[in-house]
Formats: sequence, C-alpha cells, structure tokens
Amino acid sequence: MAQGNQVDGPTAPDPVCSIVSAERPRQENQIVQMPTEFATDQWYVVASLDELGPEPLARTVCGRHVVLFRQTDGTVVALEDRCPHRGYPLSRGTVVGDQIQCGYHGLTFDGCGTCVWAPNQGTVPSKANVTRHVVHLTGPWVWLWVGDPAQPEVDKLPLVPWMSEPGWKVLTGMEPLAARYGTLVDNLLDLSHESYLHAGYIGTPEVATTPIETSVDEDTEVVSVRRRMKAVECPPFYSATTGLQTPIDRWQDIEYHPVGCYILHVRVAPAGIEPRPDGSDPRAAHLKVLYGITPSTRGTTLDFWALCRDFARDDEAVDDGMATMQTTVVLQDVDALDLLETRLAEMDEPPEVSLKIDAGGLAARRMIHAQIARNP
Ligand code: FES
Ligand SMILES: [Fe+2]
Repeated sequence: MAQGNQVDGPTAPDPVCSIVSAERPRQENQIVQMPTEFATDQWYVVASLDELGPEPLARTVCGRHVVLFRQTDGTVVALEDRCPHRGYPLSRGTVVGDQIQCGYHGLTFDGCGTCVWAPNQGTVPSKANVTRHVVHLTGPWVWLWVGDPAQPEVDKLPLVPWMSEPGWKVLTGMEPLAARYGTLVDNLLDLSHESYLHAGYIGTPEVATTPIETSVDEDTEVVSVRRRMKAVECPPFYSATTGLQTPIDRWQDIEYHPVGCYILHVRVAPAGIEPRPDGSDPRAAHLKVLYGITPSTRGTTLDFWALCRDFARDDEAVDDGMATMQTTVVLQDVDALDLLETRLAEMDEPPEVSLKIDAGGLAARRMIHAQIARNP
C-alpha cells in the first residue's frame, strides 16, 4: 500500500506496489499535493552545449533569470540576466570576446560578472556588477547550481556517466512546457501512460499491466520504480533500432533524483536472457533515457532529454529515427501537460484520486516537499 495520497486499492499488504522506507513512518491516506515551490540548493540542467553559440542564451531557472555564453576558450559563463544600470536583460546584448555588453547603454561585464566598462564614466561604480552563477558540465549538459554561488555542492550532482564515457551515443534535446514542473514529475514517474498517450510509439499494453516495485532511499534521496516485462512484444521503436524481435524481456528501471534528474534504465533482450553474474550483458541492448526536469517559472518548465545508447552507435539513420521518435513522444507529453496546467491553474488545491501506478510519483512529491522545507 502506498504512502501518501488516497490510493485506490486494497488495504492488505500489496504485492503490486510497495514503498520501502526505513526511516519515514507510513502516512496512509494523507494527501500529498503536487509541489509548486522551488527546491533550492540543487543542480538543474540549464542548457545543452550545442545551444551555446555566438549569441547569449536566456534561461529562467526556478524564477532566476540567467544569461549564458561561452568565452573564447570555450568556458561556459552564467550570469544574472539583469543589467545593474536599469535592469535591461543582458541576454539582449552582445558577446564581445570574453565579455558581454548590455544592449541598452553598453555597460560591459567580464565572465565574473564584474563591470569593466561604462559609457562616459571614468571609474565604473563598484556596485555595477552582476552575480556569476556556478555551472558544471557533464557531457553535453550544462548544470546550474541554484543556491549560494559561494557554496556549490558538487557531490549533489547525479552520476550520469553514459553522457560522457566512450561506448555510448548521446542525443539531446529540450522542449519547453507551459506547465508546472510537478506535472512532469508525475508523468515521468508513472510510465503506464505510455500505453495510452504514446500508443503506437513506445507504448505497448504490457507497460500498463505489468506490476511495478517502488522504493525510496531517504539517505541518497532517490526514488526507484522498477517494471520488468517478461516475454513481451517488441515495440516497433526497439525492433527498428536494435534488431530484436518478439518476444523480448523489457526492463524499465526508473532512478529519480528529485527534483532535476530522472534516469530511465531501459534493457531489452531476447526473452529469458539475463545479465551475467559479472554484470556484463552482451546480448541485451541498453538505453538510458535521461530527463533534466528544470522548473522555470511557477507555470513553466524546461524539459531536457538525453538518449544514451550502447547499440548502433555509428548509425546516423538510427540517430535520426530515435531523435524523431523521442521528439514526437515528448511533444505528446507536452501537449498533455500543457492541457493539465490549464485545468490546474483554475484551482489552488485540485482534488485527486491516486492509483497504485502513482506510488512513485507520490514518493517523489513527498521527497520534494521535504527538500523545499529545507530551503535556506
Ligand atoms: S540598462 Fe544596461 S547599460 Fe543601461
Ligand atoms: Fe510520456
């Protein structure tokens, strides 16, 4: 029986969906509303490297306006996107060498956010500086520390080695959502929607009917949802890209690091083939589906995605097919979540009835509420 929201299901021990929590007492039937505040002292994906060209890039993360640009040596700089003179967005200015120049009256800032030039001004006012935000690069993703810039906690960065290690092909993209970030958390923690919202693409009936196992690690702050489908149909998406045919064993193991990092470990293999005792798994294909869930404003979210695969790595046709499929699927989610937002915005605390399939999403909500409560 899941903790949290009213869950429609039996009250006896439930083999289908269970949450394991060693430290937190069960809170049966307690409503866990979708969080709307931002959790700070966290890393959020703010951009992909391929988005950073000669023009400044404007992003809003957890309500903070940030401008990003690259210096001549490739260093990624993230500054407060507000000129201290009259507040014009620096992102509407120009990158000049290693500096950025405001597009209103020309104040110019170096990569530390220090104003180094002002028009008709012998000495630049010492307060005419902007905050420099801390960024961290993992493969093609740029993470932004939303917290005290003097105290970034690098050990809070999720480990995503497939983004940068040899042996993996990585594709990335981003779609903006006109919906609060909680809708995307719910969406990604419950993949049973694949059978309906993504029917004919990545959805097959078994996704919705296969039992899930949900667990929570309070120490590492990870929510896990495991779905293991045995001897099932091979969706066209995977048959086209891996060569596998029905029947397959299809694993979907979610590893969610609230708020900003979601990893879906996908394993597809001929039915009955398990990984070897030493961990090698040569007959299976592996796909890591990552999402950077980045709250932007109260009602908008940046939905970053990355696909890391260990098969058909040099096949550009597979690149194109997977990118097209992923974009299609993400846009199906975007369409649904944007619609949800219009309804959610009509009520402060919309009533909900939760199901067994929501166990992971409710656990995630609970963990995010705890993080928000710790905001400095
Ligand atoms: S607002 Fe930027 S220079 Fe005036
Ligand atoms: Fe989806």
